[in-house]
Amino acid sequence: MRRVRTAILISGRGSNMEALVRAARTDDHPAEIVLVGSNRPEAAGIKFASDAGLPTVVVDHKTFGKDREAFERALHTELKKHDVELVCLAGFMRLLTPWFIGQWHDRLINIHPSLLPLFKGLHTHQRALEAGVKLHGCTVHVVRPDMDAGPIIAQSAVPVLDDDDPDTLAERVLVAEHALYQHALAHVAQGILDGSWAIKDERVSGVPPLGA
Ligand code: GRF
Repeated sequence: MRRVRTAILISGRGSNMEALVRAARTDDHPAEIVLVGSNRPEAAGIKFASDAGLPTVVVDHKTFGKDREAFERALHTELKKHDVELVCLAGFMRLLTPWFIGQWHDRLINIHPSLLPLFKGLHTHQRALEAGVKLHGCTVHVVRPDMDAGPIIAQSAVPVLDDDDPDTLAERVLVAEHALYQHALAHVAQGILDGSWAIKDERVSGVPPLGA
């Protein structure tokens, strides 16, 4: 069975990457993880990936100073070297330029820890608590040059409890992230394989609800 050659980019812990790697190792998953990349040499997730026998690459953004595009060109070269067809951002804490996003148009997806379009950017759990919302969650979306604003692929909601603090809420959302991301990746990869992956009017259609 042909599977979509997928890279995962991280900057830190890498628990979402880990969940994707485990899911993609199951028999009928339509994605194959062929590369795990990081912009930070100290990212803990790189060790998990190499222990799991996966090719890894570190492209340290610090060595490129302020030249974002030079960093991205180096990253892009690595992705191309591994014949990557789809890129998953998983806690990748580096804003990408329109150039890089254009190179991976509709082939670059991200997970964000809120129910977009609410709480774009950082500190989403703190902000959800401050806003008093009773439902919070996570979103997998296609990356566009506007931050956290691309077409939504799938979302998962969790309750906000009265005694939550940002850490307990983050923990609950993270469990949802791990389930959601593999589901969204399977949807996109399957769509690439059978030619049904398309974005019309900046909307993704046909994502079955989790558990369906
Ligand atoms: C996740 O909450 C993700 O949604 C956000 O950063 C966190 C990364 O966690 N963008 P991990 O590195 O996947 O464990």
